[in-house]
Amino acid sequence: MTPKTRALEREEELAGLAVRASACQLCPQLVESRSQVVFGAGDASAQLMFVGEAPGASEDREGVPFVGASGKLLDTLLEEIGLSRQEVFIANVLKCRPPENRDPRPDEVANCSPWLEAQLAVVEPALVVTLGNFATRLLRGDPAPIGKVRGRPEVVAVGSRSVRLYPLFHPAAALYRRPNLELLREDFARIPSLLELGPPDQPRDEPVTDKAVPEGEEEPAREAGDAPVPAEDERPGGQLGLF
Ligand code: URA
Repeated sequence: MTPKTRALEREEELAGLAVRASACQLCPQLVESRSQVVFGAGDASAQLMFVGEAPGASEDREGVPFVGASGKLLDTLLEEIGLSRQEVFIANVLKCRPPENRDPRPDEVANCSPWLEAQLAVVEPALVVTLGNFATRLLRGDPAPIGKVRGRPEVVAVGSRSVRLYPLFHPAAALYRRPNLELLREDFARIPSLLELGPPDQPRDEPVTDKAVPEGEEEPAREAGDAPVPAEDERPGGQLGLF
């Protein structure tokens, strides 16, 4: 399949998912509070994907993620590293606006995460930047706060895929606290070099061999800066408890 054909296929797959998501009724309170489902936007073949928390009032109105104040800052930070939102894919943990912009609830995150996993499986980005605590905790499968893990790339398992993750502060946190903005800017500056690493090896890329690996044999070397992919039974709810 040519890259162009694959790109069209990804667009169609995402469009089909968006149609299905738009009718989602899994979270009664969110169905009540949303004007529409904010599925995600951008290039279906993007190498870089951002995952935020949930749509706010502007996003709920326009049906597009990150179009409010946080979105304006995201656009600026992207521009500073020579990228535009058309070249990336932007999604959220929750596709519906929580009432009064309250935090996503665990049951809502669990209900909604299959959409995110499906988006990741279609887009297959080389790098996933999580913005803030909710996206970072979900995709890392660990409750460590963003302040502890920001700016540290690692490879994690999401469903059956290995994903290169780069947790960063949420732009809203940078709008509230100037020092966070400087850190976010510094962390953004590393994105181009992380993109150059390309996607991490996928489990299915491993060579098929019927030779047993002798005990004590060293594991293959990992790329510098990558944390080990957790063993199957350490993955949170296999990984997101999806599908
Ligand atoms: N904050 C988010 O996390 N997502 C949006 O889409 C907008 C603001």
